[in-house]
Amino acid sequence: MPTLSSGRSGATTAQDKWAAHLAAWAIPQHILERAPESPWGFPPSLFLPSEEEQNPAHRRALEVLPPSGWILDVGAGGGASSLPLGGRVGVIVALDESAAMLETFGREADRLGIEHRAIQGSWPEASPEAPLVDVVICGNVFYNVGALAPFALALGRHAGIRVVAELTERHPQVALNDFWRHFHGLDRPEGPTCEDALEVLTEAGIEAHLERWKRTPPDRSRTRPELVAFVRRRLCLTQERDSEIDELLGERAVLQPGDMATLWWDV
Ligand SMILES: C[S@@+](CC[C@H](N)C(=O)[O-])C[C@H]1O[C@@H](n2cnc3c(N)ncnc32)[C@H](O)[C@@H]1O
Repeated sequence: MPTLSSGRSGATTAQDKWAAHLAAWAIPQHILERAPESPWGFPPSLFLPSEEEQNPAHRRALEVLPPSGWILDVGAGGGASSLPLGGRVGVIVALDESAAMLETFGREADRLGIEHRAIQGSWPEASPEAPLVDVVICGNVFYNVGALAPFALALGRHAGIRVVAELTERHPQVALNDFWRHFHGLDRPEGPTCEDALEVLTEAGIEAHLERWKRTPPDRSRTRPELVAFVRRRLCLTQERDSEIDELLGERAVLQPGDMATLWWDV
């Protein structure tokens, strides 16, 4: 783990600790150089809305969303965090840095008959392009963001009523740690966690609530080959290792953790 940076007072901030935790996930250069594709991308098919009922994060958004209310979904992916809100929604503005994700989002929203707009860009840099809405949603993005405090503060500036962020209880890549040990002989970090995120928000002056829940079913992947491809990509492996990945997956049909949390705050 890298040395934690400290401020002039010598105190280490929650934001510093969060950034150092995430930096510890960096993939060693010699492995990265041999990666056939970027290990960090997200396959849109893994982030489609599932057929499951609304989860507790959806309900936190719905309990304050006015009829025909506007939603801004930051890091919208395939729409799993906002499209299940369905009928109550007026317009969903989907913001994502990935054009492929926004295309998937658009197709799903059209299929469901939900009015939507797309903004391609990275938050918070692209935030000036986003409108002020009723509820801002941000699902499963926090662990991608080193500078979490400015990211979260910008979410709040676009919400008229509430911000709802869904995240796994701990960094989702922890689920791949035994694969890293097996294929690369590497021990990976065990965090950060949703509590570390809450500390960053508190330090930034945000009074957020933390709520834990179980995701059922805990996986959004559709098929075994998709799951194998996901592991292959994250682990910087080539297709020749697919059968070994498949073997190591064993009975596991899921990789995304089922232990979830919602961080939400009113503005
Ligand atoms: C793990 S997916 C989650 C998608 C969806 N919200 C969900 O919960 O299923 C993360 C998404 O956030 C996007 N993303 C990550 N960091 C971002 C940033 N700083 N600004 C905009 N999009 C970002 C990625 O492109 C990806 O689509």
